[in-house]
Amino acid sequence: MKTKKEKRAGRILSNNCFIIGLLFRASPLYGVSIIVEAVRHNLVNFLEQTICVYLILDVIETGKPYRTVLYVVGLFLLLDIAAAAVSNLYEQRTKLKCLPIVQKKLKEMLYEKAGRVDISCYDNVEYYNDFMLSVSEADRAVNRSEQLLRMCFGGVTVLLCYGTFFAVQDMVSILFVLASFGLRTLFSNFLNRWRYIIRQTENPLERKREYVKRIFYLRQYAKELRLNKEASRSMHEEFDRINEELYLLHKKMGRKSFWLDFTAKYLMSDFALDIIYVLYLILKAVLGGMLSLGGVVVLYNSAANLRRGFGTMADIGPYAIETGLYVEKIRSFLEKESAIINIKSCEIPGGAGELECRGVSFGYQKDALILKNINLKIRAKEKAALVGYNGAGKTTLIKLLLRLYDPTEGAIFLDGVDIRNYDVAEYRRYIGVVFQDFQLFAAAVAENIVMDRLTKGYETAALAAVRKSGFLEKLQTLPNGLNQELTKEFYEDGVELSGGEEQKLAVARAFYKEAGVVFLDEPSSALDPLAEYRLNRAMKEVAREKTLLSISHRLSTTRDADIIYVLENGRITEQGTHAELLSRGGVYAAMWEVQAGRYA
Ligand SMILES: Nc1ncnc2c1ncn2[C@@H]1O[C@H](COP(=O)(O)OP(=O)(O)O)[C@@H](O)[C@H]1O
Ligand SMILES: [Mg+2]
Repeated sequence: MKTKKEKRAGRILSNNCFIIGLLFRASPLYGVSIIVEAVRHNLVNFLEQTICVYLILDVIETGKPYRTVLYVVGLFLLLDIAAAAVSNLYEQRTKLKCLPIVQKKLKEMLYEKAGRVDISCYDNVEYYNDFMLSVSEADRAVNRSEQLLRMCFGGVTVLLCYGTFFAVQDMVSILFVLASFGLRTLFSNFLNRWRYIIRQTENPLERKREYVKRIFYLRQYAKELRLNKEASRSMHEEFDRINEELYLLHKKMGRKSFWLDFTAKYLMSDFALDIIYVLYLILKAVLGGMLSLGGVVVLYNSAANLRRGFGTMADIGPYAIETGLYVEKIRSFLEKESAIINIKSCEIPGGAGELECRGVSFGYQKDALILKNINLKIRAKEKAALVGYNGAGKTTLIKLLLRLYDPTEGAIFLDGVDIRNYDVAEYRRYIGVVFQDFQLFAAAVAENIVMDRLTKGYETAALAAVRKSGFLEKLQTLPNGLNQELTKEFYEDGVELSGGEEQKLAVARAFYKEAGVVFLDEPSSALDPLAEYRLNRAMKEVAREKTLLSISHRLSTTRDADIIYVLENGRITEQGTHAELLSRGGVYAAMWEVQAGRYA
């Protein structure tokens, strides 16, 4: 059995391997050039700063002709030029070209995962935290993997070069360097963990601040904020409060960080090495006469470099641990298991299908059921309507029918087969839906309809969908037609649509899809009565061959439905045709009574 500690260490190691492996997979050239550059940099430094100086001092001390000095200097000058060329090539070409490739690869993995995770994750604060942190840490994680590679190969090069030089010159010096190295390890370990805690503490506050900031610049909130001065003021106060809290946090932690850093860097390592070591070297030179003053200079200089080598090696562990912790967030996000389990065993039916809920109960939280024992059946090509007051659970039922969530109890069937037996993606592709809170994207009209790569010949189908949804009139006024960019987010001349126009476009999206089943969640709420009338007529036309479930609180649209279900507090309380429900004299009849004046 592995202990918990061993498991953690294993995981941290594997996280580092994961991120470095990703770097090599995304751009092998980059991986190799990082290593070459790390070795080159340190090797050239060693040759120039130690060997070159040593040779020159040696020439002078042993009284060799000064011409020799010129040769040595000339030789190293050439080496330097060659090295600068290699370094330049790496910095200006390889790095600029390859680093974005690696960063993009990791982000793509995250976005792809975010697109696949269960929608229930979006109700979950922790998920949001993880996702935000993962995305914001992605570039950093890649940079860290590069840095880690550089540390490993640079550190080993330094140790090999200087280690050999010291072993030949003076073994005792190595002990001095080792002493400060031990102390440094201890402290940097401590420091890294401390920094991670700071980030963790900051994160919820930062998220809140981001939210408040967003409210002030997003278009959707602008009107509300102007109309509700009180809300705007309290948001300002909240913003100030969070800033104050962050400031206090930084102030509190900053002082401790400073002292930890200072102790680690100066008192524990530089002081020990610099002062004591230089005394040792001078004593050795003066008393024993074993060292020339030139030797003192070269060893002292090199000691600082050897220390840097040990330092680098000592930092690798903590740095890898810290990287492992950052990458852990990203990896655990990427590894998140879906609660919506995909077991494909059945083929999706070809045409319109029959939908049935049997004893379906569901709650977003375990102990608060939103839907209770729902039983309903919509036969193939039937037009069903779901009515009920706000908050009754209508949208929730649609989400279950789309398998965005699985029921807590009971099951949903398509053509008699539990929908859990279909491939999730195929199943969702089979259904056309217009949500109450549908979203249009800052992209061209066509892209908003097709919602996929635009393949050849899409125009005909897109235009047909636009015609049916009633968006054609507006489309004809757009300068760029189907290619018209929407919103001013990216384009100066992007078009902003009205609520009703947006809704028509969203409906066109559902029409474009070759769906067997269509759900419409209050598709006409933002339309004027005439547009609504037209939409209903078009709907009947297009949906003739499809199974349709529409939600509407305007009962004029449900009047012709084959079957109407009334949802109250999560239960189906009435069902039947318009005429049946009216004669029953229940909730539906009462709702009709209220609206009848307008639609009779
Ligand atoms: N993601 C969610 N997490 C928790 N509760 C939710 C969530 N979405 C909706 N609810 C709650 O479920 C109830 C039903 O909502 P909904 O299905 O949207 O009602 P309707 O569409 O009938 O107006 C409401 O009380 C709402 O607050
Ligand atoms: Mg709703």
